[in-house]
Amino acid sequence: MSRFARLLFVTALLCAAASMAPKAQEPGGRGGGQGRGRGQVALPDGPGKEIVSTACVTCHGANLIAVAAGYDRQGWRDLVSTMVRLPDEQMNTVAQYLATHFPAKPGRAPKLLPGDVQISFKEWVVPTLGQRSRDPIQLANTMIYWTGQFGSLIGELNPATGRMREFKLAADVRPHSIIADASGQIWYMGNGNGTVGRIDPVTGQTTAVYRMNVPNATDPHSGVFDRKGTLWFTLQQSNMIGRLVPSTGDLKLVTLATQNARPYGIRIDSKGAPWVAYNGSNKIATLDPITMTVREFVTPVPETRIRRLALLSDDTVFYADNGRGSLGRLDPKTGVMKEWVSPSGPASNPYAIEVIDDIVWYNESNQRPDALVRFDPRTETFQSWAIPSGYGIVRNMSVSPDGNLLIHQSSSNRIGLVTIPKTARK
Ligand code: HEC
Repeated sequence: MSRFARLLFVTALLCAAASMAPKAQEPGGRGGGQGRGRGQVALPDGPGKEIVSTACVTCHGANLIAVAAGYDRQGWRDLVSTMVRLPDEQMNTVAQYLATHFPAKPGRAPKLLPGDVQISFKEWVVPTLGQRSRDPIQLANTMIYWTGQFGSLIGELNPATGRMREFKLAADVRPHSIIADASGQIWYMGNGNGTVGRIDPVTGQTTAVYRMNVPNATDPHSGVFDRKGTLWFTLQQSNMIGRLVPSTGDLKLVTLATQNARPYGIRIDSKGAPWVAYNGSNKIATLDPITMTVREFVTPVPETRIRRLALLSDDTVFYADNGRGSLGRLDPKTGVMKEWVSPSGPASNPYAIEVIDDIVWYNESNQRPDALVRFDPRTETFQSWAIPSGYGIVRNMSVSPDGNLLIHQSSSNRIGLVTIPKTARK
């Protein structure tokens, strides 16, 4: 093939891929949100520049390459292969070019703390390129579902066989996260078109769509069901919290008094009250489930930015302080807080967090590889592991029906299952 023909070939592949990858819309904070600027930077000269200039700028600007963590050849190969499909020879050239000009940046290796707990990781690469798979959940029948926000799809994985299916939603839905209701139906937060919707996990058909009922409510983000089957969800950019009763269709949205609070992760406590992390302010909120009155707790340091939080069985709140690299604890009865610096330090960007049998699990999203951290609240001790693919970022975690942990790597289109032995949970 002539060079021109090769470039045409690549471009054709890319156009096919790009048509399914809508542009980013969520401005990210430190640690890599899914929507960083897409300006162009001048790529350095060298063999491979031409291919990168053609192949890599269909979905985003070259600036994303320049600001990335940087990788060795294998690292770039792994990352790029989840975004574009290149013939072998071109992939080698591209990986060599990127590793030469954008090598691994120093200081991003996690500080891993040893310990007695043995866990195991299994990861799968999902089919559609550039979709940025995220937010996996597992149903009681063991099937795993995820959302591919940039591909506007919901995926299904049978972990026993590795078989996957992908259900395309309308291109503008761009589901940010998915959750399951008590009957195992899957709900998506339509971040792109201001909807929440339900799909049947067997047929993949959309069975209900609820549109936000106030004009400036645009971006459902993260959601959770309470025990009565009411859906609670955050709208980050709209600065709102929503409550939907699916049986009646009753939808109510409240705007937060704190400006630019950027409500993010949301959980329900044992009494049915939602707890919300603020990604734009050093606060955590809880709502009265009937009146939706908001009560805020201010954390000790102004620079704190909390992506997500999780609750122990006694409703103690643990939060992942993305802004300052800390793990925090809030006693909901007294308002007393305590914070610990995460093992990899103040720049480690803790992000997703879960609790399994009163043990806290979270990730350090700025490290390469991304690290999974276990924290025992009784002994106040940490243990941590590198996530095997580790090209970044676990943005949300969930607990499987049998008490294991579902994770993902959105940059590299991976879904992961972390098996935690029963003895390690208490
Ligand atoms: C099919 C669409 C698509 C193509 C083509 C594509 N990417 Fe991406 N890539 C994405 C999306 C979507 C993101 C996330 C964008 C955002 O965060 O705004 C991304 C993000 C990235 C990032 C940041 C990863 C991170 O989270 O740290 C890097 C680096 C990157 N791409 C490199 C490349 C390179 C190199 C190529 C060409 C070989 C390429 N991309 C081609 C879809 C694509």
